[in-house]
Amino acid sequence: MISSSELKRRYITFFQKHGHRLVQSASLVPENDPSALFISAGMQPLVPFLLGEPHPSGVRLCSVQKCIRTIDIDDVGDKWHLSFFEMLGNWSLGDYFKKEAIEMSFEFLTKELGLPLERISVTCFAGDEDAPRDEESARTWERLGIAKGRIHFLGKKDNWWGPAGETGPCGPDTEMFYHVQDLQEKSTEDFSRLSSTGPFCEIWNDVLMQYNKTKDGGFEELAQKNIDTGMGVERVIAALNHFDNVYECDSLAPVLDKVLSLSKPGTERANRSARIITDHIRAAVMVMGEDRGLVPSNVEQGYVLRRFIRRSIRHARGLGIEGKFCSDVAKVVIDIMGESYPELKRNSRHIFDELEKEEDKFSAALSNGTKHLESVLIRLNESGRRELSAKDAFDLFQTFGFPLEMTEEICGEKGFKVDRAGFSALMREHQELSRAGAEHKFKGGLADHSEETTKLHTATHLLNEALRKIVDPSIRQMGSNITAERLRFDFNYDRKLTDEQIRKVEDWVNMVIKAEADVSFRTMSVDEAKKLGAQGVFEKRYESTVKVYTIARGSTIYSIEICGGPHVRNTRELHSFKITKQEAVAAGVRRIKAIVK
Ligand code: ALA
Repeated sequence: MISSSELKRRYITFFQKHGHRLVQSASLVPENDPSALFISAGMQPLVPFLLGEPHPSGVRLCSVQKCIRTIDIDDVGDKWHLSFFEMLGNWSLGDYFKKEAIEMSFEFLTKELGLPLERISVTCFAGDEDAPRDEESARTWERLGIAKGRIHFLGKKDNWWGPAGETGPCGPDTEMFYHVQDLQEKSTEDFSRLSSTGPFCEIWNDVLMQYNKTKDGGFEELAQKNIDTGMGVERVIAALNHFDNVYECDSLAPVLDKVLSLSKPGTERANRSARIITDHIRAAVMVMGEDRGLVPSNVEQGYVLRRFIRRSIRHARGLGIEGKFCSDVAKVVIDIMGESYPELKRNSRHIFDELEKEEDKFSAALSNGTKHLESVLIRLNESGRRELSAKDAFDLFQTFGFPLEMTEEICGEKGFKVDRAGFSALMREHQELSRAGAEHKFKGGLADHSEETTKLHTATHLLNEALRKIVDPSIRQMGSNITAERLRFDFNYDRKLTDEQIRKVEDWVNMVIKAEADVSFRTMSVDEAKKLGAQGVFEKRYESTVKVYTIARGSTIYSIEICGGPHVRNTRELHSFKITKQEAVAAGVRRIKAIVK
């Protein structure tokens, strides 16, 4: 049996041998990116570099990235889809392109891992008005030994990747599929119909990233042509070990075993509910294991956590699991995943506490809410209607804590739909941060590098420094979130800032803006950055080099901070800075919102 850690080790070693530098897995929760709730691909933390900024580690990179994909959540429970998975990736930032990328993929799969040729099929982009048919990739695969009948050309729906959000880098791709059974060649039509539903499984995607999708929906050529690849660890482990689904891989099987041991006797390993619980509790553990201390709630990442946990509880009841069980399952997840991700061990108390609190909150409501919903559905049925009203769905949310998706799932099982649009409208009326907004972000997105956010990034560095200068030298950044409208900055401090302190902080930042200070960066070692006294998070980094931004006028240095950017070139571009709000977010943590104009 080849283990996940062995596969990861081999992948990294292989790409290092081919000149790639390892970059660390970013946190599952993107820093400074309001357009995405979670990292859903290894390329996401690399967007600025795919768009042309030089990466401190060079032009060939590889990583193992933790990913959450809520877009696949309805497919979870089948053989191949997971909400949390680990993605292996290699990147060329304007260096090699498709021929070399395909050759390396082929060599890794067939030579390094020894997957038999007869079990591999590939797809290439069929071409449309945005990009031509990708004959070159197909010819490369053929030359390497893939039979012509196993090379399929498909359209945008299948063979185009990205952008991850509305805009950003994207392009046609060429994908590799593993055949679980040794199937004969299929027609392209049959292949497309069967792919990732059972007998075939996509294991690796080489994106030929040569376009930037713009706000108006057009595709402009990128200045540099990149390669962005993504390989699912769990799927490849299944392929290597002849499993016909991902739940038998070493990082999931013991979790499934635990769920089954708690379930009523006779529950099969392939039971969909058991798989959903296995996947969802693992995903919830991975999210709560981040050092950010996320908790289930009704907004943003917290809402997704709530969905994972509450859906697990509902499916558990169907398997005869009564009472609290989430921590028992979580313990197994932490044991397995904690080796690669020590933050899970650090945060295990938080994880158990929050799982148990959520179970306390939802247990009684689940059975009452289910009874309530069933009686509503009986009435609807009697009156010949097949759609639950927005108001009923909203009552279930408010009174019983049913996430909309849970109501939809229960209704769907009984052949009813839910008025989703009406629900969103009601929700907007009730919440400043509406569910609709969060839903938008579930699709995943990319950092917004507009002019407005760029200015606010620079303003954030100045605010960070001003707070230390004027309020307290021990202040450190605890969190940051930037939209086109405002910056939000969390820091350690246990009191309200006085009006005078606020005014002085604003004055200091505005003084630096007026001083027309230059913003520049230099790439250096972590040690060098520390010596310079740069602000930033050191503990989580193991890249040998980092980017350090300095804001200075001549020999007067205003700020030195480790950061990926982007930033303005001169502080005069900010015009003026104003704090619009301050509040407490947790014990000892305060939040400031501010704008530039
Ligand atoms: N970004 C590509 C994917 O996620 C590799 O499939």
